[in-house]
Amino acid sequence: MNDITPTREQREAKLEGMGCKRKRVEDIRFTQGKGNYVDDMKLPGMLHGDFVRSSHAHARVKAIRKEEALKVPGVLAVLTAEDLKGVNLAWMPTLAGDVQMVLADGKVLFQNQEVAFVVATDRYAADDGIAKVEVDYEPLPVVIDPFTAMAADAPVVREDIKDKKDGAHGPRKHHNHIFEWTVGDKDLTDAAFRKAEVTIKELISYHRTHPCPLETCQCVCSFDKIQGELTIWGTFQAPHVIRTVVALIAKLPEHKIHVISPDIGGGFGNKVGAYPGYICSAVASIVTGKPVKWVEDRMENLTATSFARDYHMTTEIAATKEGKVTGLRVHVLADHGAFDACADPSKWPAGFFNIVTGSYDFPTAHLVVDGIYTNKAPGGVAYRCSFRVTEAAYCIERGMDILAQKLGMDPAELRLRNFIKPEQFPYHSALGWEYDSGDYHTAMKKMMESVKYADLRKEQSAKREAFRQGKTRDIMGVGVSFFTEIVGAGPSKNCDILGIAMFDSCEIRLHPTGAGVARVGTKSTGQGHETTWAQIIASEIGIPADDIMVEEGNTDTAPYGLGTYGSRSTPVAGAAIAMAARKIKAKAQMIAAYKLEVHEGDLEWDIDGFRVKGLPEKSMSMKDICWAAYNSVPPGMEHGLEAVSYYDPPNMTYPFGAYICVMDIDVDTGVYKVRRFYALDDCGTRINPMIIEGQVHGGLTEAFAIAMGQEIRYDETGNVVTGSFMDFFMPTAVETPHWETDFTVTPSPHHPIGAKGVGESPNVGGVPAFSNAVNDAFSFLGSTHIQMPHDYWRNWRAAKGLGVVA
Ligand code: CDP
Repeated sequence: MNDITPTREQREAKLEGMGCKRKRVEDIRFTQGKGNYVDDMKLPGMLHGDFVRSSHAHARVKAIRKEEALKVPGVLAVLTAEDLKGVNLAWMPTLAGDVQMVLADGKVLFQNQEVAFVVATDRYAADDGIAKVEVDYEPLPVVIDPFTAMAADAPVVREDIKDKKDGAHGPRKHHNHIFEWTVGDKDLTDAAFRKAEVTIKELISYHRTHPCPLETCQCVCSFDKIQGELTIWGTFQAPHVIRTVVALIAKLPEHKIHVISPDIGGGFGNKVGAYPGYICSAVASIVTGKPVKWVEDRMENLTATSFARDYHMTTEIAATKEGKVTGLRVHVLADHGAFDACADPSKWPAGFFNIVTGSYDFPTAHLVVDGIYTNKAPGGVAYRCSFRVTEAAYCIERGMDILAQKLGMDPAELRLRNFIKPEQFPYHSALGWEYDSGDYHTAMKKMMESVKYADLRKEQSAKREAFRQGKTRDIMGVGVSFFTEIVGAGPSKNCDILGIAMFDSCEIRLHPTGAGVARVGTKSTGQGHETTWAQIIASEIGIPADDIMVEEGNTDTAPYGLGTYGSRSTPVAGAAIAMAARKIKAKAQMIAAYKLEVHEGDLEWDIDGFRVKGLPEKSMSMKDICWAAYNSVPPGMEHGLEAVSYYDPPNMTYPFGAYICVMDIDVDTGVYKVRRFYALDDCGTRINPMIIEGQVHGGLTEAFAIAMGQEIRYDETGNVVTGSFMDFFMPTAVETPHWETDFTVTPSPHHPIGAKGVGESPNVGGVPAFSNAVNDAFSFLGSTHIQMPHDYWRNWRAAKGLGVVA
């Protein structure tokens, strides 16, 4: 070996493969303001559309008069439901099997519902036009509180299906009822409760909130009348699904629809669904023959374009006196708003809420979810969550703390006693899931040692005594949360969207000089796929990550994929990437064997190429193999070096984590301070530790926001009272606590590289840690459960309710 021959370590480092803290390649453009977002699109002759929205939460629409609006300079068209009926688009199907108005048809069902679409030469003219559209409303009684929605005399939200006895997910019990979903063994569970030595029962509500990505939902639609082709640039987390939905509802041939997701400024589930803005822009482009842009503003996004959570979970746990759980019973009242437009896999009306047994070995459980209609915005999205997992984790993690309090047991100790043990994996949960791998005890103990848990509890006891003696007005909370996630939707045996199996895909094409392109069916909304997908390929086939360009989001070039949400990208597309790379490697091995004049079996892989076993100096690098693939391949072999994989995962992946939050609350003001937040995550094999850390920081910040104040709230007449960032809590760096991160590694046994998803874990695990900290702080004053969000005012009110402030 001469001096300039790189060492094995240098060759390995040059690849920047898995495990490397590779810098995010996409940040070169993002940090210089050179990203290309939908609103950057400017096409010749482009028009702008904007909505007339309902000021009422529930009202009959008696008349819509467009005449004055059409006189406004620049206004070209005003679309209403009557116009859309002409093209059979006044209503559209939802992902959940319901139908949804595109524009108000006869009545409005929630405040800010889309009533008419004004198309003009610029956004200002469109807004002037909106002011001139006259709508006659006849207000109707509203139903906002989900607990009154199924009263006999409750207002009928959905007149179109008032008398329908069956919905998409079975029988309906009431005119505002959508579905009842039951899972588990009722008789066994009831028997466990009859025998139980200790039980708890609590209504645990997870309030309505919103993912509020920095960039709102938007699109540009351009219909080419000559070619009969529709091109849509949009903020789509799942562009291929959007293409298929447009083909189905607009009756256009799918190959004549081009859907392109350019750079996206955050999705968090908000950009999965199909919204009226997309349909109206497409119709407007077809009608006018011009490209039409629709960009919603912040208030429209917050109040009308979807929501998250709004789950009200009556939770019961049965246990022995020693703290061994014996049964779980949960009833959920799920408020879906005016239409059931939840973005779940089609057959899962409550998503994967049946992961609610969490990390614990419940011998039996029973779950009932009732979905209901109210006069609120539709579209329950998975806000950084794998389809209602966040609600489930909150439910069980609060439930375990409440049980610990009743037993007089430390909440960490209660969890340790009930964890699924490492030897029980693969573990079959009482509600039907097969957990792939986990080592919960190790993670929990590492967390407890890292934060010196025992010392924290001692300090808390001393502080409580000082409070009792009137020496301090601060109370201290230690919030423990241990969550198990279920991500990677999903296996075709149980997941589809509108009948399309939830596989994902990757196509890799290597060029003669040893560089290449990878096209993937996912779509990054900020998670750094351009960086990490290349790292998987680098490790698999020995081409430096810098020499692989990753492309996503163009339905004409990327293979069909189901998109990015619910942390499915790594579990599903990440596997497809590895599998496509392995196909390339197999062909490369044949080429190398031919060139080195040995049998394929005589070759072994060595970081960035093949070498002959026992003769390490006889080798061929992948770079050289790429050249050979376009030059001299074995007889009978086709030239080129490319492969495609469509990966149908055999199971979900089950990442987990141990989180702890230490908080001090001043009872006189309700002001809290997060003193410490420690998050240990186990997402199996780690592709890029720096990106994982970034994902955890972002997710924890969202969890902090949700638990401590972020809420979509309505008054009794259905007005949204948190419709802007003035009153919807969006933490900045000023409010955001410091995050400490840690990890363990328990690979997934069925994933080609052992990786599990991570993006949403911090949101899932973070919310219960914050809420448990607040509840733990108040628990010694006699409180069992205080509902989220825990803003200053509610903390103060809780203290007042407990009689510790005058
Ligand atoms: O579907 P989404 O991209 O939102 O979530 P994810 O699969 O959890 O991935 C989020 C980011 O973290 C991606 O850039 C992944 O490549 C990265 N990641 C990682 O580096 N290692 C893992 N085990 C999981 C995710």
